[in-house]
Amino acid sequence: MARRPMIAGNWKMNKTAAEATELTQKLSFEYMKEYKSVDVLVCPPFTSLRSVRIVLGFDKSPIKLGAQDVFWEDEGAFTGAISPKMLKELGCTYCIVGHSERREFFHETDEMVNAKARALIRNNIIPIICCGESLATREAGETASYVTSQVRAALVGVTADDAQRAVIAYEPIWAIGTGRTATPEMAEETCSAIRDTLIELYGDEIAQEMRILYGGSMKPSNVKHFVPMPNIDGGLIGGAALVATDFIDLVKAYV
Ligand code: 13P
Repeated sequence: MARRPMIAGNWKMNKTAAEATELTQKLSFEYMKEYKSVDVLVCPPFTSLRSVRIVLGFDKSPIKLGAQDVFWEDEGAFTGAISPKMLKELGCTYCIVGHSERREFFHETDEMVNAKARALIRNNIIPIICCGESLATREAGETASYVTSQVRAALVGVTADDAQRAVIAYEPIWAIGTGRTATPEMAEETCSAIRDTLIELYGDEIAQEMRILYGGSMKPSNVKHFVPMPNIDGGLIGGAALVATDFIDLVKAYV
């Protein structure tokens, strides 16, 4: 079965609830044209989830809602944390885990990313598991081994049935927010190594169902080079997701 492409917007720490409402209204209006062959997802900050959900619900928009992070327990004394159960109630069907910014600024380890992915699956939320190498790792020629070990670690204890719906996002750290993209060939090479790892873990049938996204300065001007890549099933978009017309142009490229 052909994989359905996905364009996911990671808004990071941008947009107040009022600004998020405005951006969602624009996206939702543009999306009225219905690009049915692409899954479109927005991941605003926690504080805007409810506002975004209300706009999407009011417009009966097919745009899906996701979060950018989660804690691995369902409830309890974890000050400041947000549980999968809370995200579920707000209508999130996806959640990003293991973004390199979380690994860097919040010291998230592979074990924590795995705990988060499992907590999401337990709550019927699809994890978008991020992986990606630093420039030093790339220059040392260790990209594939580094990235595939992140993927393996994130999927420890995840059954084939659950893994099938999970999404992997390959985001080379040196390409995030820098305007410097991996060439489509470089991105494809790593995504193909990720696919091989998924085949090893879950067999060919399951691995061929799993979506792998590329992220890192993807924008309307370069997306067309990524579209034909056989192991890249869409994008996880930062900067260009904050401008409605750019984000919709990215969606259109995958229609
Ligand atoms: P940019 O598209 O701004 O490079 O960000 C990519 C990213 O980190 C998405 O999660």
